[in-house]
Amino acid sequence: MNNPNLKQQVDSRRTFAIISHPDAGKTTITEQLLLFGGAIRQAGTVKGKKTGNFAKSDWMDIEKQRGISVTSSVMQFDFAGKRVNILDTPGHEDFSEDTYRTLMAVDSAVMVIDSAKGIEAQTKKLFQVVKRRGIPIFTFINKLDRDGREPLELLEELEELLDIESYPMNWPIGMGKGLEGLYDIHNERIEFYRPERYEGERFIKLTDGEIAEDHPLKEKSIYEDVLGEVELVREAGDQFDLEKIERGDQTPVFFGSALTNFGVETFLETFVQLAPKPHAHKTDADEPISPYEEEFSGFVFKIQANMNPNHRDRIAFVRVCSGTFERGMDVTLGRTGKKMKLSNVTQFMADTRENVEEAVAGDIIGVYDTGNYQIGDTLYEGKLNVAYEELPSFTPELFMKVTAKNVMKQKSFHKGIYQLVQEGAIQLYKTYLTDEYIIGAVGQLQFEVFQHRMLNEYNAEVVMTPMGHKIARWIDPEQLDERMSSSRNILAKDRFDQPLFLFENQFAMRWFADKYPEVELKSLM
Ligand code: G4P
Repeated sequence: MNNPNLKQQVDSRRTFAIISHPDAGKTTITEQLLLFGGAIRQAGTVKGKKTGNFAKSDWMDIEKQRGISVTSSVMQFDFAGKRVNILDTPGHEDFSEDTYRTLMAVDSAVMVIDSAKGIEAQTKKLFQVVKRRGIPIFTFINKLDRDGREPLELLEELEELLDIESYPMNWPIGMGKGLEGLYDIHNERIEFYRPERYEGERFIKLTDGEIAEDHPLKEKSIYEDVLGEVELVREAGDQFDLEKIERGDQTPVFFGSALTNFGVETFLETFVQLAPKPHAHKTDADEPISPYEEEFSGFVFKIQANMNPNHRDRIAFVRVCSGTFERGMDVTLGRTGKKMKLSNVTQFMADTRENVEEAVAGDIIGVYDTGNYQIGDTLYEGKLNVAYEELPSFTPELFMKVTAKNVMKQKSFHKGIYQLVQEGAIQLYKTYLTDEYIIGAVGQLQFEVFQHRMLNEYNAEVVMTPMGHKIARWIDPEQLDERMSSSRNILAKDRFDQPLFLFENQFAMRWFADKYPEVELKSLM
């Protein structure tokens, strides 16, 4: 479609996800961002989902219990001339492969860290997925209003554990009860935590890195300490480098307190300036597709099934990669060549599902699906005929043996499993010699959804026997010797018949690696 404003619209998009460990403050910060963007009017709208006060939805119990709400999967708002799309990455109990796949649809990520806890397990996992994509990562160190760890120590941990350069955009002046404000290196100013204590000004400009001689902050010893630390970081630390940031080799670090809404707006202002606009996406052809390409294209990165048996509809989440989406347009589904009419399409706002009229690269649209789409599918307009790069599979960590409860219903059991595996809801393995079914997931919720959908959509009751956490590692079939297997490293095969071991723990894996040093152990993403 000919859209004269396409370039300008695309350039205004900022599409990102927030990655963090549960309780670091992702929901609180998201809410603050939505408030700044005018997408919600009061705090508690997003947060409410945890307490049961979530937006109305017709989804079933499991979804409600978990607080998963399709309405908060994508949140869009305008801020400072930019259109911001935040993609939710479900955490807590609803951590799943979808959480990882969402990261395939964003142009940057914001990592939220609890200042008292530092880098935690889930943050690290998500970080690694983002890092491999080579997209920019911005860091927000949260909960400054509480006593946390020293900023220098936190930056060091970031560099050591995550192997990424860090650049502090600002520096806390005190913390917890002693929090005075932020020394804003990037904007050369001080932002006060409680301006009422300091002549009512929230921001004071610095001259040559210093506040005016007669300012009361000058008398505080913490101010001198901060000057010393900032000096140290300037001399010994990494220099701000936009190119490195764009490649994901350096992360700009912001400090703040989401709960008291301190430092969040400063973060957002700088973020929308530095964060990248939508980039070209790789396809099966030599050339990536430019976001300014006139014909519409996009890929499905997530399918959310309706858990309500009365409403079998599903929503396919499509990342728009080029052109302009228009309601009612005709597109081709690349995998099947089938023509599809995109009439029933939603856009996601914080507390409503609204019909979308127009979307461009960077935006996410939710396409009503009656079972046509699969994760990774490409949709395109006209003769564009592209196939976007396949989405990676992620190494599952939790495993269950699964059988049909009723042996008479084997047929629907097999049909259900294969369709749900195709759809990307779960991963399927078999024991190598005996062909028993094992399903793998990255989070517990995937099993529950699987069990529920098997029963409701395929009328197949399943019996699941937990195998617990395992470390899955693939090996070259040529190197396989069945005698390598034991109860601590179960030999299995994936749905492409490739062999892998399910190790009981790190120790079992190291023991194996020592015993068979010639065998290379490979993980998925
Ligand atoms: P999550 O989505 O990353 O899991 O975290 P969430 O925002 O739900 O925050 C987890 C807890 O941390 C919440 O407290 C929240 O109020 C608190 N929190 C978030 N940001 C800050 C901050 O900047 N400072 C302080 N002191 N606390 C913060 P909770 O008691 O678990 O929940 P609630 O009962 O307050 O809702």
